[in-house]
Amino acid sequence: MKTSFKLSTLLSVITLAALAPGAADAAIGDPVPGLTPSEKALFFQGKALYEHEFTVDEGVGPLLNAKACNTCHNAPVTGGSEIDTAHLVLHFGIETHGRFYQAHEFGGPVLDPLSIAGEAEAGTCSMPPDTLPVGLPGLITSPRHTPPVFGFGLIDAIGDNDLRKLAGRQHWKDDSVAGIAHYGVEMEGIAPINEFTTQPDRKVPIGPPRVGRFGWKAQNATLFQFTAEPFNTELGVSSPFAPREKTPDGKVPLPNACLVADAQPNDVQSQDTLLLFYFQAFLDAPERLPKNGAIAQGEALFDQIGCADCHVEKHRTIKDYYVPWPDGKAHRVAALSNKKLEPWSDFLIHDMGPDLDDHRRMGKASGRFWRTTPLWGLRFKGRMLHNGSAITIDEAIAAHGGEGAASRDRYFALPMHKQERVDAFLNSL
Ligand code: HEC
Ligand code: HEC
Repeated sequence: MKTSFKLSTLLSVITLAALAPGAADAAIGDPVPGLTPSEKALFFQGKALYEHEFTVDEGVGPLLNAKACNTCHNAPVTGGSEIDTAHLVLHFGIETHGRFYQAHEFGGPVLDPLSIAGEAEAGTCSMPPDTLPVGLPGLITSPRHTPPVFGFGLIDAIGDNDLRKLAGRQHWKDDSVAGIAHYGVEMEGIAPINEFTTQPDRKVPIGPPRVGRFGWKAQNATLFQFTAEPFNTELGVSSPFAPREKTPDGKVPLPNACLVADAQPNDVQSQDTLLLFYFQAFLDAPERLPKNGAIAQGEALFDQIGCADCHVEKHRTIKDYYVPWPDGKAHRVAALSNKKLEPWSDFLIHDMGPDLDDHRRMGKASGRFWRTTPLWGLRFKGRMLHNGSAITIDEAIAAHGGEGAASRDRYFALPMHKQERVDAFLNSL
């Protein structure tokens, strides 16, 4: 199946960075065009905070994976993916009789390998970091690679109905392809932001669930949630939107010695979460390289062999996209409303077969289910797939099983020069 001699399929940021003769004016990492001056100012404040290493006094820990968002989200620039696998995030839990349990009492479901214990500022807080309960019957682990967050305001602004419709008509071309809209589970502490989310077709406060689109299993429905949550789970900073911090044995609340003085009940007020959100929401999408003959042919083949059934090119954002504003009101972002985006994803979850099964259920997505990865910005990635295991495009395609098996087989059945055109197209994204 694998064709390891095709050097052209090796993703390399170094060669690719040099690849842009006459390419787009906008650089990767820029804010979306057309922001108002105040939106742009918040983008840059948020960017600084995204790069900021939080200190113990500012609320980092007691358990953590890293002190800054861009410890992981940094390639090729702030907000990107991780170029290697140095900071894989380890999910774990217990599987018995085919059911998955989050191992809270052992520090699950996400391993925090670091703790502030021992740092001067931490005083007498002596909480140990998580250790994987190796040998525990039924233990399953799922390493997760860091995805980029370019263009995430645009993705946030896709209407739920559009994704539902896509799921409804997906099997028209190949009936083995049938993605599912994954209704995200809003986290308990997120309630305060619902008053902000007043987009016309996404305004339900604590009512029906919303269509997930963020995370490897589309487990989260809103970008705000996927800002508040990692702030808490990766950095250990609690906020009004994600107030509870994790302990290695699942016991809450935190011991007094591990609380930040004068910061009760949470480490930070709402502002820091908002700023991190603005950076992600206003970060522009990657721009593709100009088409040449090979790229255009590769794109047509990509469509013909069924890749585009899941990796859907185009979406349009809702007419009125609102974000929470620092004054507590909802604010319409014109630059993200009624805009075209080309993420090459349907944001649905698909059964990708036994080889990609991680046994880690999230909501409705069992181990074999994964969200179609957006392919925009692929040329900037050093690693692919949820666990970062693929370095070449052929490796990523070969891993497609289940609903992706038919198009995978059609790809590898193509003559070599045609496979290379598909690769040229993918490397232009
Ligand atoms: C230790 C590395 C690490 C740090 C630090 C980190 N992340 Fe992530 N991030 C990840 C991983 C791994 C995922 C994939 C999560 C999943 O779905 O399993 C992710 C996913 C995301 C996503 C969703 C991406 C997608 O494809 O839908 C967003 C948004 C995000 N992180 C924001 C943040 C923010 C904001 C911070 C800082 C508060 C942060 N991350 C800190 C590793 C990290
Ligand atoms: C049934 C839906 C489906 C089809 C059809 C499909 N893909 Fe995918 N693709 C996915 C999913 C889901 C993932 C994420 C898998 C994972 O990370 O475990 C993915 C991941 C990828 C990745 C890795 C992206 C990254 O950054 O990690 C590439 C490259 C890719 N697909 C290319 C293709 C090509 C080329 C084809 C056609 C031969 C194709 N896909 C067909 C659903 C699909």
